[in-house]
Amino acid sequence: MADIGTDIQRAAAYLTQGDLVAIPTETVYGLAANAYDEAAVVKIFEAKNRPAFDPLIVHTHSIAQIATIAREVPDVAYKLAEKFMPGPLTLILPKAERVPLLVTSGHDSVGVRIPRHPLTLELLRQLPFPLAAPSANPFGYVSPTTAQHVQDQLGDRIPYILDGGACPVGIESTIIRVTGEEIEVLRLGGLALEELAEVVQISKAKIKTSSSNPDAPGMLSSHYNPGKKVFLGEVGEHLKSIGDTSRVGIISLKEKFAGIPVQHQIQLSASGDLQEAARNLFSALRQLDTPTVDTILAERMPDQGLGRAINDRLQRASFQEE
Ligand code: TXA
Ligand code: MG
Repeated sequence: MADIGTDIQRAAAYLTQGDLVAIPTETVYGLAANAYDEAAVVKIFEAKNRPAFDPLIVHTHSIAQIATIAREVPDVAYKLAEKFMPGPLTLILPKAERVPLLVTSGHDSVGVRIPRHPLTLELLRQLPFPLAAPSANPFGYVSPTTAQHVQDQLGDRIPYILDGGACPVGIESTIIRVTGEEIEVLRLGGLALEELAEVVQISKAKIKTSSSNPDAPGMLSSHYNPGKKVFLGEVGEHLKSIGDTSRVGIISLKEKFAGIPVQHQIQLSASGDLQEAARNLFSALRQLDTPTVDTILAERMPDQGLGRAINDRLQRASFQEE
């Protein structure tokens, strides 16, 4: 990596003059702009081809700064923030007046998060404004977990990518909406429900992450499209129904399948570790988005820990428009 101080200074200079910068976070790379500069935020929607109805998360360095982005921070939100921030958690809170409606797609609420990546945290500390940032991928495609992923797809549309290496969590933040005392899970993500349950009670009714979730407008069922047909389920069973398997790609937790070219098979974690699996998921989907593969068969992960978020992404990737 080049001189880190200089990299952060360059990123800060672009952002200050209203340009976009791709930033590393512990979850995925974000495509950032000054959240308070509408002309800069517009560039995010343009670069991603993102529809205006899909709100952006605002990134900041401290709970104190969250209190200037949200007009109200309920006690339970403080409790969650103190326990899990910086980290892979986004809180949806009532928005402060100063946050442009463009950022929140007209909603009276705003998503806030403190990313746990040293480069981006330092960048945020140096800037006098928070950063609006969605994942740094073209709308509807798989999120990027390396600077190269961003370069491959958006390199010619953004002036600078702050390279912070591979994202250690690898799957987007868990999104929680807090309304007074009430909390709801709008997106499964890098913070496991089991960890959240140590701090707040989460009943099934509070988990609103169905495949087409009107509460989290960006959570369309057809997201995370890797450019191929994806089937989620029992890989071994599915293989039996396919005659010619030479153009099949496989994503499994650790199982290997005889008769399938090795370069078409990806095991997400040899030891069956679901955190490692989450870290490798999006790279795997990109790797199988290759001309020699027509169909991806993905194994359903155990319904626990980050397995739930992985299944959610694979489910969306497998959604076929009617
Ligand atoms: O880990 C992450 O959250 C990454 C990194 C870059 O921080 N960001 C990310 O952003 O995944 P994005 O834009 O790809 O997904 C954010 C989603 C939106 O699609 C939307 O569903 C939800 O967050 N969201 C944001 N603001 C919201 C709001 N005010 N109300 C409801 N949902 C909101
Ligand atoms: Mg996204």
